[in-house]
Amino acid sequence: MSSTGVVGYKTQLARTQGQKKDSKPRRAAASRASERAPQQFWCPDLVSTRDLGPLGVEAILRLAEIMKSCPTDFQETLKGRQMVMFFEKPSLRTRLTFEAGMVSLGGSAMFVDQTHERLDAREKLSDVAHNLERWVDLIVLRTFSQDTIDAMAQHARVPVINALSDLEHPCQALADYLTLIERFGDAKSRCLAYVGDGNNVAHSLLLTAACLGSSIRIATPQGYAPDPQIVADARAIAAETGAEIYLLTDPREAVAGADAVYTDAWTSMGHEKEEDERARIFPPYQVNAELMAEAAPHAVFMHCLPAHRGLEVTDGVMDSPQSVIFEQAENRLHVQKAILYLLLGGGDRLPARSAYV
Ligand code: CP
Ligand code: NVA
Repeated sequence: MSSTGVVGYKTQLARTQGQKKDSKPRRAAASRASERAPQQFWCPDLVSTRDLGPLGVEAILRLAEIMKSCPTDFQETLKGRQMVMFFEKPSLRTRLTFEAGMVSLGGSAMFVDQTHERLDAREKLSDVAHNLERWVDLIVLRTFSQDTIDAMAQHARVPVINALSDLEHPCQALADYLTLIERFGDAKSRCLAYVGDGNNVAHSLLLTAACLGSSIRIATPQGYAPDPQIVADARAIAAETGAEIYLLTDPREAVAGADAVYTDAWTSMGHEKEEDERARIFPPYQVNAELMAEAAPHAVFMHCLPAHRGLEVTDGVMDSPQSVIFEQAENRLHVQKAILYLLLGGGDRLPARSAYV
């Protein structure tokens, strides 16, 4: 991927503004401003990769590359901006990369441990939203249900980011494709094979691959295939971008000749009661040296983490030279900085001395 200038991708992104899905008062104002200055990027929320579309995905990845290579140029760009995070599930990477990212842009972060009860258990979610929007500039949610994130985005006048739900993990997939682009130069000519449960991470990989015009094969056991609506939406995007999508059940067929082999937990957070049943169903989908040998010789191994060594992946694969798991984890930081920056209108305050304005 080339380091296209910020003006270039902001111009691209301005075209996506006609796709905005709601009309929050504050967002409507931003929309009018963007009409006066169409080169300025504005995006309401990131609750789904579908909010971004191909132009948005490309913009975030390009900005993340720039921020990774010139971090000091962005140090004060979100000065005074405040972010709050509510997490109904545990997190290492997502929580810390959002916090570190926001602070490194000059803003501040607050974390609310919401693991003891659902976000809407104590009061109506719309009431929570109308409180938060008066105090902070941005809301990050990790929830059991995608509906909670959708409802927060609907009610809050400030941007809302999906930090993982049952349905999607958009920030993760963006970091994953940044990792692939760094490794291979571009994603369009590459094939990622995902082997395992067809849920949140697989969904976001599917949608991101579709946006990037890439090739993706997903192999899942019967009954664990990706959500049909996500597949339909990915196929609609792929019709425009030329992406190739294959849904399979045979892990070997998926991995054959692939450039990247990706897996995730067999039992995601919230499904712990199904652990024994899944432990019986998923072993043919383990990523081990034998399965990796079916991929291209240059293939990388990917995992969103946390990994369950000895279950979905062996120690040998996790610790092999093919493994890019920590590159993926590092890129969570750079991608999340790009997302924060763009959702908070950081494009209005690009560092004056930057070579790319
Ligand atoms: N990959 C990921 O989201 O990790 P955490 O659950 O630690 O945030
Ligand atoms: N599919 C996993 C991803 C964790 C980052 C889960 O939802 O638990």
